[in-house]
Amino acid sequence: MNRIESLLSKMTLAEKLGQMTMTASSYAVTGPVIAGDSTQAIKDGTIGNLLNMVGAQHVHDMQRLAVEESRLGIPLLIGLDVIHGHRTVFPIPLGEAALFDPKMWALTAQESAREAAADGLAMTFAPMLDVSRDPRWGRSAEGPGEDPWLGARIAEAKVHGYQGNDLAAPHTLSAVAKHYCAYGAVTAGREYASVDISERTVREVHLPAFEAAVAAGVAAVMPAFTDLAGVPMTANVALLRGWLRGKLGFRGVIVSDYHAIAELIHHGVAADLAHAATLALKAGVDIDMMADAYRRGLPEALSRGWVTMAEIDTAVRRVLTLKLRLGLFDDPYRRGARPEDPAAVSARRKLARVVGSRAIVMLKNGQGVLPLTKPGLRLAVIGPLADSSVDMRGPWWGASAPEGHVTVLEGFRQMLSDAHVAHAQGVSIDDDDTSGIAAALERCETADAIILCVGEAAAMSGEAASRAHLGLPGRQRAFADAVFERARSLGKPVVVVLFSGRPLVVPWLAEKSDALLAAWFPGSEAGNAIADVVLGHVSPSGRTPVSWPRAAGQVPIFFGQRPSGRPRDAADHYTSKYLDVANDPLFPFGFGLTFGRFKYSNLRVPAGGVAESDTIVVRVDVANEGRRAAEETVFLFTHDRVASVVRPVLELKGFGKISLEPGETGTVTMLLAAADLKFLGLDLEPVFEAGDVEILVGPCADRSQLLLAGIELAHPAPSGIKR
Ligand code: GLC
Repeated sequence: MNRIESLLSKMTLAEKLGQMTMTASSYAVTGPVIAGDSTQAIKDGTIGNLLNMVGAQHVHDMQRLAVEESRLGIPLLIGLDVIHGHRTVFPIPLGEAALFDPKMWALTAQESAREAAADGLAMTFAPMLDVSRDPRWGRSAEGPGEDPWLGARIAEAKVHGYQGNDLAAPHTLSAVAKHYCAYGAVTAGREYASVDISERTVREVHLPAFEAAVAAGVAAVMPAFTDLAGVPMTANVALLRGWLRGKLGFRGVIVSDYHAIAELIHHGVAADLAHAATLALKAGVDIDMMADAYRRGLPEALSRGWVTMAEIDTAVRRVLTLKLRLGLFDDPYRRGARPEDPAAVSARRKLARVVGSRAIVMLKNGQGVLPLTKPGLRLAVIGPLADSSVDMRGPWWGASAPEGHVTVLEGFRQMLSDAHVAHAQGVSIDDDDTSGIAAALERCETADAIILCVGEAAAMSGEAASRAHLGLPGRQRAFADAVFERARSLGKPVVVVLFSGRPLVVPWLAEKSDALLAAWFPGSEAGNAIADVVLGHVSPSGRTPVSWPRAAGQVPIFFGQRPSGRPRDAADHYTSKYLDVANDPLFPFGFGLTFGRFKYSNLRVPAGGVAESDTIVVRVDVANEGRRAAEETVFLFTHDRVASVVRPVLELKGFGKISLEPGETGTVTMLLAAADLKFLGLDLEPVFEAGDVEILVGPCADRSQLLLAGIELAHPAPSGIKR
């Protein structure tokens, strides 16, 4: 009998339910506060998993209680939300998505895992894979942006980064793909609200990233808090047991979200805790995070015959299997056995600086005002986010401290000098006090350029942070307008650095700024990364993974829309449009300026019929007609003009990158598997349909900027017939 079966055969019901329970330590609270001390329960074997504990010593102390003092010595599984870094913080995931660089996505996950494992952790509740097209939802910040194909690429990279090739290795973490699924489509962008979308949209938009995570070997999945068309995900048999475990063959652990099993009562599908525990277990949820529903509800459910011991054993078996795969039985102290060497930590900070600079999306660079290269440059670095370390972390800051993240002011002062960099806050992020504006304007007098740092506070995005108004909070707009007016009178450029966890609705800011950088929340090296771009040490290359609305009324807004039977036609009143705002976004998906100026030409695709098994080679020439070296990201979209179901006007199917010196030309080659052109037919089953498909290549999801070529999908002639 193997080790797990042998253990299982000895376990009491209380010990089994302990392995199905995850309790928060008091080191961090990420949900409704439920007090209580777990140490006796760990010794009794009635708590088998913890979250929010940080520090190798603390972890090992708890591990020792489980391994050396409990009856069966089953090691604890301890997890934390290492979402975009542990102690060293990288840009928020939405900002990292802007790199369009799978190697970097994997590298930051790998580095985060190293740092968290050195603190004794064995699980991260990441990657968050919720595609979202609604910036009212605060958790857009944590996700992969608006596109399912991009979400799938990020899923693969992150799972490989966190888990490595050997889950038992001391520097890896079990990843948790979350929140399964469609949480990003909450009604009206309101946090935790019901999700009510078509099955087609669930399958085409919200499942691909999870399919990719499972294919990449993710060890665990976390269902969303939300209900999907009236069925709470925590109790969703069709999507958990049916699709995830049945169709995709997922054999790992399903861990509930924080207190979510108990919340089946609030959803109105469970009468009490025993009923809620029954529903979750029947759906395939193995670990109850912080609801205590399994420990308190399953004994009654068992006695009433609502669940069987076999169903409980199945859950326990999966949890023990994960602990075995993590090497926790062989050496429960392996993670955190030794502190990281300082060289690794400083290398990680350097990586955070590179990633921070590459996450920056230059949305505007009027008159080529950037980079600022004047000798003896004097700056005024002003605004409520000019010198705020805590806000540079962004939401979900892991185990990092509030201080120690390089602010914009610190970044510029380190590179220029204190004497050359003046500072004033001007206004706060979100209160009504404008008394500081005058002092800030005074700082502009002696500056060659003004760096205006505005946006959201870190706490205004992330979980439980939906916003109905998507402009700048507080009196920042009044402040910015005063700065623009003074700068204009002084003839000084204003470079706006915008911090946010979502695309904000700021058309006026785009209009009035001389340069506009979307910095998201750049993490521990924020100020250095921003100064690197502004001063020209790094050429900006970030591309926005979300469409930026002109108005909140456009939301949800995304490039992969279906065409409508009356697509927008300026010459025809009766077509799809608003009376008061254009249909298109202020900045489209994929948009991002560089210090170069790129021209596309000579798009080449194969002639003749393309069979499902073929690989389509797409080539395009790119020339840098600008005066500075830069890296261009080239996007590959498709559009199936005539199909058995309506297809989006653009579908993202690939991207490539090319770095070119001024005057240089190069060719970007992208490979597209014809099978990737399958879609869900009328019966929601994948179909490869013969017919013409457009291939569109260019700098962003704006059709007017894309080169177009056509390919013909064909079913291979029956064998024996030659054409
Ligand atoms: C939170 C979040 C989830 C997180 C969990 C543990 O409420 O929804 O993403 O992993 O609880 O902190």
